[in-house]
Amino acid sequence: MADTLTVTDNRTGKTYSLPIVDGTIRAADLRQIKVTEAEFGMMSYDPGFLNTASTRSSITEIDGDLGVLRYRGYPIEQLAEHSSFLETAYLLLNGELPTAEQLSAWELSIQQHTVVHENVKQLMEGFRYDAHPMGMFISTVAGLSTFYTEAKNVRDPVSRNNQICRLIAKAPTIAAFSYRHCQGYPYNYPNNKLNYTSNFLAMMFKMVDSSYEPHPVLAKALDILFILHADHEQNCSTNAMRAIGSSEADPYSALAGAAAALYGPLHGGANEAVLKMLAEIGDVKNVASFIDQVKLGKCRLMGFGHRVYKNYDPRAKIIKRTADEVFAVTGRNPLLEIALELEKIALSDEYFIKRKLYPNVDFYSGLIYQAMGLPVTMFPVLFAIPRTVGWLAQWAEMLEDSEQKIARPRQIYTGHAVRDFVPIAER
Ligand code: CMC
Repeated sequence: MADTLTVTDNRTGKTYSLPIVDGTIRAADLRQIKVTEAEFGMMSYDPGFLNTASTRSSITEIDGDLGVLRYRGYPIEQLAEHSSFLETAYLLLNGELPTAEQLSAWELSIQQHTVVHENVKQLMEGFRYDAHPMGMFISTVAGLSTFYTEAKNVRDPVSRNNQICRLIAKAPTIAAFSYRHCQGYPYNYPNNKLNYTSNFLAMMFKMVDSSYEPHPVLAKALDILFILHADHEQNCSTNAMRAIGSSEADPYSALAGAAAALYGPLHGGANEAVLKMLAEIGDVKNVASFIDQVKLGKCRLMGFGHRVYKNYDPRAKIIKRTADEVFAVTGRNPLLEIALELEKIALSDEYFIKRKLYPNVDFYSGLIYQAMGLPVTMFPVLFAIPRTVGWLAQWAEMLEDSEQKIARPRQIYTGHAVRDFVPIAER
């Protein structure tokens, strides 16, 4: 016998049998529950999607209680140790690890698209001298749709693949141009002899006559951070990518929307917020009183807590290890002591234990970026570059999913019942 959920409606005494598939009921099956035939039927109410699966997906698996993260079945720890960012990108997009031949072809197809049209550069030059790099990134990515008008053919797999390569290739170029712009430096063009992260660092830091070569340890650390940030199933920005993409908007417009969702301090802006918080705490001796403020609800411990992880975020563990390697090259970030003390106190405090609040990916990533010389305003951009891969993998999966429709939630209307317009003189 198939699994079912039996619901009795006390208003009518009627009993309904709702099929259970994959541990879920279909919200639309609730619609049969009504008092009169004319009624719309019952809806479920779930602000913030706390308990609603919006899709089936075979890309990323998270077990929040166990602290597990896997891309296409591969544990994140193994990918961080053995893979490269572009190989992981191939895996996320195609479902399988590439052969050596497939990997070279894939890397080449990304390298071929790293340059942006000169008009894109001019567009970026039009931003104010102090424009936030994330604002520049979001707007410029949206602007790309005007350069690749065939991108609107979202049902054409060939066009789709071209736009995927372009976006992954151009994201670091646009990101580096944003940084150079707000520093007042000339933009550096991509160097396709370098790998993905070394090329990005060179576009960021090479000065006019310098023979800048990214430090291999730093380039490798950034590659690991990019792997860790590449996808994270149905989070706020991915949900935005899917929602915008569900109207069949082109991927540049959809990705700009996803990046905008990432910009907020509760999502991709959290690592910037962590550094601000650490700087405000200022000294290890102030940690205990800061924790008291958090417990009184006066502020949040940024970089702690997660909607899904109710255990140590596995990405945070890898980042903590990577931080040691980076600090061996750059010197220790003075804020690290404060972060370690915060973590120690929070992990042993009843408030955090009871609520299952553990360090998340953002707790240590900002410290690494700062030690590498990357300014805090670049942090959300550094998240957006690798997450571009996840957004695109999820977007492509959504388009291939015959069950998906344009995203259009319902509401519970709480406003006035009908009333007549009152002329202004009588109000
Ligand atoms: N500091 C102090 N208390 C917290 C924190 C925190 N960082 N996070 C949650 N809580 C408390 C919250 O006050 C609530 O307590 P109570 O039950 O007494 O009201 C309880 O824990 C549950 O919190 P919530 O806000 O209902 O949980 P949520 O799932 O809606 O929020 C979160 C998840 C990540 C937005 C939240 O934990 C938070 O604001 N963390 C700080 C910001 C942060 O680090 N964000 C990065 C997330 S990881 C990167 C990513 O994947 O985007």
